[in-house]
Amino acid sequence: MMLNQVEDLASKASDELGKITDVNDLEAWRIHYLGRKGSLIQILRSLADLPLKERRAVGARANELKEVLEAAFVEKKRNLRQDLALSQRREALDITLPGQQVPLGRLHPTTQMLEEICGIFSNMGFQVVEGPEVEWDYYSFEALNIPADHPARDMFATLWVDSEAKTGGRPMLLRPHTSPVQIRVMEKSRPPIRIIAPGRVYRYEATDATHEWMFYQVEGLAVDRNITLADLKGTLFEFARCLFGEDRKCRFRCDYFPFVEPGVEMAIDCLVCRGAGCRLCGNSGWIEILGAGMVHPEVLRRVDIDPEVYSGFAFGMGVERIPILRYGIDDIRLFYSNDLRFLKQF
Ligand code: DAH
Repeated sequence: MMLNQVEDLASKASDELGKITDVNDLEAWRIHYLGRKGSLIQILRSLADLPLKERRAVGARANELKEVLEAAFVEKKRNLRQDLALSQRREALDITLPGQQVPLGRLHPTTQMLEEICGIFSNMGFQVVEGPEVEWDYYSFEALNIPADHPARDMFATLWVDSEAKTGGRPMLLRPHTSPVQIRVMEKSRPPIRIIAPGRVYRYEATDATHEWMFYQVEGLAVDRNITLADLKGTLFEFARCLFGEDRKCRFRCDYFPFVEPGVEMAIDCLVCRGAGCRLCGNSGWIEILGAGMVHPEVLRRVDIDPEVYSGFAFGMGVERIPILRYGIDDIRLFYSNDLRFLKQF
């Protein structure tokens, strides 16, 4: 009877001991089973009431169990201490080790360039606006004075999204230039207007060192009373000086774009030879950087701005061209081929 109680105690104690994982629980266990008021002591104390034969058997077994549990306790305590030391060592920090470098991202050279260009024009009072990259034929060509059969359409090798009538007879394309944003702005607002429109443009083009099928442009537009070609020249000259240095020279020559009259191209004196003639400028001393002109009266009429009252100038430039010139980059495809060895240099 009493012997059964001792055996129960033995198996309960070792079960519980096996599950213990920290020293506080272990101490509680010790007090419960081996303490001065513990279960085992109580059994030993009650031996006196037992008949002699049973007393011997139970006494022997209880004393044996006491020794076993005490030994198990010591062993368990040592194991827990070792585990603790081990995990402390594993979590320990060696503050003398050099830190792991966190790789930092950076702005793409095109983004940096866009920020610089937009910053210069913002300072001159231009507002930055954006337009859609998937555009209607109307905004890309028609409203810019380039009807369907106009030879100037050949200037813009177009990527059509849908040139047929699926879109209700309105051909849709990836814009080949940012000029359509001019029309969208003039449709929605009245002069005075001063905006620049940065963004992606697309051309149906075989790629090589000087051609990409996607690149960036910045478009500019100013419309108000009494805007003249002198305003165009002054604004763009100031822009060139901000971007390429105070002592930059500029040259304007006649050019043709259907949406301006007159149209001009602007060149700066060569960054390398300063006009003497070298490989970069093809020995001319000049480097063309943008197209511009006075907004065509026909374009103003389309958006219901009276060309008898208002006039304006517009310009458009390729963005990658500027870092290409500045840093002597010899392949435009480097910009969008995601090669970190290239991108990290900016
Ligand atoms: N959109 C022209 C192009 O992609 C660039 C351009 C030329 C824009 C003259 C203009 C401009 O606003 O007046 O080649």
